[in-house]
Amino acid sequence: MKNILITGGAGFIGSHVVRLFVNKYPESTIVNFDNLTYAGNLLNLTDIENKKNYHFVKGDIVDGEAVFALFEKYGFDQVVHLAAESHVDRSIANPMAFVHTNVIGTVNLLNAAKHFWKHGNNNRFYHISTDEVYGSLGEEGLFTEETPYDPRSPYSASKASSDHFVRAYHHTFGLPVVLSNCSNNYGANQFPEKLIPLFINNIIHKKPLPVYGKGENVRDWLYVIDHAEAIDLILRKGTTGETYNIGGHNEWKNIDLIRLLCTIMDEKLGRAPGTSEGLITYVKDRAGHDLRYAIDAGKVESELGWKPTVTFEEGLRKTADWYLSNAEWLRQVTSGDYLQYYRKQYEER
Ligand code: NAD
Ligand code: TYD
Repeated sequence: MKNILITGGAGFIGSHVVRLFVNKYPESTIVNFDNLTYAGNLLNLTDIENKKNYHFVKGDIVDGEAVFALFEKYGFDQVVHLAAESHVDRSIANPMAFVHTNVIGTVNLLNAAKHFWKHGNNNRFYHISTDEVYGSLGEEGLFTEETPYDPRSPYSASKASSDHFVRAYHHTFGLPVVLSNCSNNYGANQFPEKLIPLFINNIIHKKPLPVYGKGENVRDWLYVIDHAEAIDLILRKGTTGETYNIGGHNEWKNIDLIRLLCTIMDEKLGRAPGTSEGLITYVKDRAGHDLRYAIDAGKVESELGWKPTVTFEEGLRKTADWYLSNAEWLRQVTSGDYLQYYRKQYEER
């Protein structure tokens, strides 16, 4: 029986982790600490909100006193830290928000863990990170756990910084940490600003699909529930002080992925083949756009026995179905000028 803090549990990946843990560990207390930014939404958790072992606390990881008070109240054994500003385009528009949440917020959590964890046996601080810290690949090669850090966007620079702080607290203070760096996730509950949910929403509303540059950038896509399963495994069985890369062996050029998504959406919406592809609009490239990310997930597979279970086409179909059957969720999160304040810079260029 453990007390587990999950930060950012109302967000995209966090909500799947909270659901998995609440259902799988009825004897543990799962506390979701989240300040409900634009990306956090309690509608993501309505199916488990009344479970006895689940507690939601609204709060900001940048508020050091609130974080200490939370640790004092619940006496956590373990922390699974997902709270973050997570979108590259927003980090280009407003880097400082990423410094606050991703760097200062993470150090606040590390300080609290260091203060309250005196004995350490059962304790574990798990930082969820991204493969973007490794920079950009050319046509060949994969990111391994040994790839040198080379972050190139304000988002990845802030995540690289937080990764370094987590490792520094391990080496300097002996804090029992573990880290994972994962590739691009997709699935239900993702705020419609990232590629897949943005394009699903735009297709539904017959709005243009803004493809950055020539659409030739490559991402390695993983279904979010496969990521949540990896997080559960690494929390329980990962080696203290180690890092695990997580990815789906599933590289797609953006334009090929978009064409597949268009085909699936036409089919599901009963529209003539080619309708959604007609919405594709090439726009000016993202500043500093990383060409290619791809993960070698050999370590988590061979050491911990994890492997992805959902094929890309199956996962995309499930994701499309989720957005189509959650029209009210989509309407609520996209009401008003939901992308205006940071997307304007792209539209104006
Ligand atoms: P998200 O943007 O969907 O959710 C982030 C959550 O954190 C939201 O619920 C938000 O309210 C909360 N949050 C933000 N700032 C906070 C603060 N100051 N205090 C408390 N809560 C705060 O993000 P996501 O896509 O679910 O990503 C979760 C984590 O996984 C992040 O650390 C991200 O870097 C990492 N990651 C994401 C991906 C991906 O493809 N989405 C891939 C690899 C790693
Ligand atoms: P995104 O979902 O923002 O994830 P990340 O930048 O963290 O990989 O973008 C995925 C890819 O899709 C990336 O190469 C940028 C591209 N993209 C577009 O072409 N148009 C868009 O409107 C968005 C949001 C992304």
